[in-house]
Amino acid sequence: MSAPGIGDAGEALLEVRDLRVRFHQPGRRVDAVNGLTYRLPAGRMLAIIGESGSGKSVSSRALMGLLPATATVSGSARFAGTELVGLSEAEMRRRRGAEIAMVFQDPTRSLNPTMRIGVQITEALHAHADLDRATAQRRAVELLELVRLPAAARRFHEYPHQLSGGMRQRVMIAIALASQPRLLIADEATTALDVTTQSQIMELLVDLQERLGMAVVLISHDLGLAAGYAQDVIVMYAGRAVEYAPAGTLFDHVRMPYTEALLGAIPRLERESHATLPVIPGQPPDLTRLPAGCPFAPRCGYADERCAAEHPLFAEHEPGHWWACWHPVPDAPARVPEEVR
Ligand SMILES: Nc1ncnc2c1ncn2[C@@H]1O[C@H](COP(=O)(O)OP(=O)(O)OP(=O)(O)O)[C@@H](O)[C@H]1O
Ligand SMILES: [Mg+2]
Repeated sequence: MSAPGIGDAGEALLEVRDLRVRFHQPGRRVDAVNGLTYRLPAGRMLAIIGESGSGKSVSSRALMGLLPATATVSGSARFAGTELVGLSEAEMRRRRGAEIAMVFQDPTRSLNPTMRIGVQITEALHAHADLDRATAQRRAVELLELVRLPAAARRFHEYPHQLSGGMRQRVMIAIALASQPRLLIADEATTALDVTTQSQIMELLVDLQERLGMAVVLISHDLGLAAGYAQDVIVMYAGRAVEYAPAGTLFDHVRMPYTEALLGAIPRLERESHATLPVIPGQPPDLTRLPAGCPFAPRCGYADERCAAEHPLFAEHEPGHWWACWHPVPDAPARVPEEVR
């Protein structure tokens, strides 16, 4: 089975195949990621969406080697030709930040409150290149200007608490960009921000993606962000990809009932602005006791006995469009205009 992705002819920057993450706890095992497969070419943005607990963060942290010792990772994640799964901590540390950078949701926890932001950025620059002090300082201000931090030269000398939430998020992105990464993983990086700031930061990411040729994985609860900015979308459920397609295809020809449920409650207009995921009745499955069949079956209006018994394969059923379902949602019939009825 080839992994999904556009531009299959060329080498993907990131190729994730059958990625699995298990957390071992006393007396139980949490199966957080259960065979995730995707392909991300350079310069593209892939959104990963799904309910809380579906494995979006854990699968991305696995790529960065940022999981606790209780986790075991298997499967494959090739980044620019190098296998990341099983890489030693030392090799991982060398890549982390340098080639793959991650921006987290909460900048108040990620920035050091006792250090001026300029120092934090110059440290990030020094970690990746041998620069003299004046050059590092100049580059740091350039980075703050690149992420459009207002009055960058002055802010350089300020502490994180003197900045707004949106400004802190920009600083986080500047730190992530210090190494000129080839892949940026933004995990709910704009969730805490108001809609206007969110749009500004997303436009900034798209601009950087285009100008620097960076690939971006955008993890989000916000369907509007996925629809509006990403080229490709993966929908995750219980640690698996359940639907994958270019954004336009996914939103116009939903196949997976779970995705339909996520989208169904949201009118299109809202989806195009900033709607968060609606609540679907029922509970996601217990990751310590996953069922043999489709884990969404108990909550699915289309499910029958087969769904409960047998797990559907995640496969490319239409060109570029992947899903895992025995009863995919048909396209809605074209509506007959009022006057010809
Ligand atoms: N250190 C850990 N030990 C045990 N289980 C964990 C650990 N970290 C995460 N999990 C479990 O793994 C599953 C996936 O978590 P993950 O953080 O990837 O979810 P998510 O999709 O990012 O959700 P959210 O939208 O809330 O951020 C969850 O059930 C979570 O409880
Ligand atoms: Mg998360």
